[in-house]
Amino acid sequence: MQNKLKKIAKDTNYFLRKFIKIQKKSPLLLPMNYGLFSGGKKIRSKIMVDVGKIFNVDYKKLIIVGAAVECIHSYSLIHDDLPCMDNDKTRRGKPSTHIKFGESTAVLAGNSLLILAYEILGKELTGIDDKTKINLIKKISECSGHLGIAGGQYLDLSYEHKKVSKKKITEMEIKKTGKLFSFCCAVPLIMKKKGDKEIRIFENIGAEIGLLFQIADDLIDYTGQSSIVGKKTKKDEMQGKATLISLLGHKNAIKYSNKLILKLNKKISKYGSRSKDLINTLDYIVNRNN
Ligand code: IPE
Ligand code: IPE
Ligand code: MG
Ligand code: MG
Ligand code: MG
Repeated sequence: MQNKLKKIAKDTNYFLRKFIKIQKKSPLLLPMNYGLFSGGKKIRSKIMVDVGKIFNVDYKKLIIVGAAVECIHSYSLIHDDLPCMDNDKTRRGKPSTHIKFGESTAVLAGNSLLILAYEILGKELTGIDDKTKINLIKKISECSGHLGIAGGQYLDLSYEHKKVSKKKITEMEIKKTGKLFSFCCAVPLIMKKKGDKEIRIFENIGAEIGLLFQIADDLIDYTGQSSIVGKKTKKDEMQGKATLISLLGHKNAIKYSNKLILKLNKKISKYGSRSKDLINTLDYIVNRNN
């Protein structure tokens, strides 16, 4: 599992470095590179490759779409760490982008990475027809904007120091984190021109995988060690974040996560032996320590 993840990270970074190299030079490239190549597990790309295996989709094409996803993910982390959001000084074991380059530069580098994702999807997908490209772009937009990451981040901040229901917490976590996983799970089906109904099934699986990932992140914040995690831990409580841990307690949040992974494994194992990689990745998601 770790080896496969490493290979995906290597292939993704190789593509991204090549893509950035052909860009005209600008001073923002330095903070963009800093936010993009500071590490990162590339778990979203891994999920995309795992679903791609079920549907027999070309690995190289998925790495390119995954590279676009990683640009959006890195942008979301740069902004998430800003003082007006989570105010975190450390990310991936290094000073956050705004600590290194200043706030305004971090905002602009984040915006530029978000846009870079669209440049990748617009330019580089050789062998993918325009209709499919448009469908990918439509879907990634929906998952990143006010109905996805941005909307979820808004809710995350507006729920601070408030008691909110389990339903609201999970909806917020699905938006801020789950939607990008929805996109990753939908990509192979969009590329194989599957019908809306089947795409929706995988979008829902993706949303639940993202929820599982965020709950694991919340649990890591609660019990993890900063030096291993690469970001400050025990912060959610201090910041008054509404999480399943703050609402139900640590043990019950673990129970919720255990139930969710069982439910997901059941849905996924329907796809037979080709779904083994995806099931292994889910196991990694809940058992990881960073
Ligand atoms: C962190 O995501 C932010 C969340 C959505 C919880 P990751 O844990 O995937 O971050 P990197 O890319 O590996 O640093
Ligand atoms: C971030 O959630 C989700 C994003 C979409 C960026 P968190 O705020 O919990 O992520 P970390 O813990 O700072 O990585
Ligand atoms: Mg946050
Ligand atoms: Mg944060
Ligand atoms: Mg967190």
